Amino acid sequence: SYPQLLANKKVVISAGATKERIDPVRYITNDSSGKMGYAMATAATWLGADVTLVSSTQRLTAPINTHVIPFENALELQTAMETEAKQADYVMMVAAVSDYRVAHPQEQKIKKQHHQSNQLTLELIENPDILKGLAAQKNQQIMIGFAAETENLIEHAQAKLQRKKVDWIIANQVGKNHQTGFNTDDNQVTLLSANGERFPLPLMSKLETALAAWQIIAQTPLNK
Ligand code: C5P
Repeated sequence: SYPQLLANKKVVISAGATKERIDPVRYITNDSSGKMGYAMATAATWLGADVTLVSSTQRLTAPINTHVIPFENALELQTAMETEAKQADYVMMVAAVSDYRVAHPQEQKIKKQHHQSNQLTLELIENPDILKGLAAQKNQQIMIGFAAETENLIEHAQAKLQRKKVDWIIANQVGKNHQTGFNTDDNQVTLLSANGERFPLPLMSKLETALAAWQIIAQTPLNK
């Protein structure tokens, strides 16, 4: 058993990819599997937290005693997070949110256009930055975001910490030539705090990464 560092704490975690509908049978999504978010939820329960998992995936099994709230797209995720964050002690956004959604999702399947040009234009509209919005409205909650980057990881993560005004950013390298990041079982992350501290963690399983990250977050006081 683990030290109950999150006993009596309510933790809200988002996990998985957003799906932005184009029509009833098509959508825009990304490579996030939800594995890191589920690992974060599992580790938080081991440390004694009361966990709510806001999830877009049905492929993974939620840890027992976790309250699961499903979402499909960014706007649904925003609504769920805004409701759940109110009573939370820790809010962690692990979900990979689409920066844009389809401006006019069609109610019927879009048909191939046979007699016109060979181009079809899809209009996109910016999604809200959910984490930034939650951080702007927060009371005492500790806000934690992720930064998945293919280059200049720490610089981008540091900029994100300041732009979104969050307490922690967990930075991880993603991309083709990495054994870490989206849809892998291992990860190598660095935690950046609003106090300017950095905690690089070794390459290890997502579950070990999650456990180490929660231990650092629960035990590092932030003077703001
Ligand atoms: O801005 P960027 O997508 O790189 O930031 C990543 C972090 O912000 C993640 O924690 C992600 O869940 C969150 N995010 C969000 N709303 C968005 C985009 C990202 O909450 N529209």
